[in-house]
Amino acid sequence: MGETADPRIQIRPFADRRDCERMVDYFLNADKAFLEGMGVDPGKLPPRREWIESALLDLERPAHEKDRYYLAWIYDGTPVGHASINRIKVGEEAFIHLHLWVKDLRKAGLGTQFFAASAVEFMRAFRLKRLFCEPYAENPAPNRVVLKAGFRFVKRYRTTPGPLNFEQDVNQYVRENPEALAG
Ligand SMILES: CC(C)(COP(=O)(O)OP(=O)(O)OC[C@H]1O[C@@H](n2cnc3c(N)ncnc32)[C@H](O)[C@@H]1OP(=O)(O)O)[C@@H](O)C(=O)NCCC(=O)NCCS
Repeated sequence: MGETADPRIQIRPFADRRDCERMVDYFLNADKAFLEGMGVDPGKLPPRREWIESALLDLERPAHEKDRYYLAWIYDGTPVGHASINRIKVGEEAFIHLHLWVKDLRKAGLGTQFFAASAVEFMRAFRLKRLFCEPYAENPAPNRVVLKAGFRFVKRYRTTPGPLNFEQDVNQYVRENPEALAG
């Protein structure tokens, strides 16, 4: 279990079906405006069972075959969010995503702490030379969080970031990993 300066804040890899269910239910229980606010097309979310099964299958795959790898965010012993990486090239790069599920915990600095700890852990576990983050340009919270967590702005461009998204302007940020770059 990864620890941060605040002992109430911990991160750990997704371990089982329950972790996958919590992540899937966060998306499926969200309202349309919330999903659109982070660039997700509500009409593109997979059915619950299918989504959970595919996340579970992926959990079992070796690192270099994974579609995604998830870290649970644990606050005071309770799962409250997750970070994930996809487009993983082990030893090279990946793209990071961040979600604090509990609305009442947002805007209190927790997201930044969880995100920064997750970025370090993803880079360590997958020996990444660089980690990209490409939030929807109109979603202020992640655009702020990434800069506070040591990422730098690269460019803004229009794309459809993934299978759950609509076409949108994203801001690309990167954080390099000096240890992996040196190695
Ligand atoms: C993105 C997210 C993880 C950030 O976590 P958080 O705990 O709310 O963020 P923090 O409290 O650490 O805030 C970090 C900075 O972002 C700013 N911020 C947070 N929410 C904001 C909002 N809704 N609008 C504008 N600024 C915001 C904070 O003011 C702070 O900046 P400051 O230190 O300069 O004041 C969280 O808001 C979240 O899960 N949102 C919904 C999912 C989402 O949008 N994910 C991103 C998908 S790309």
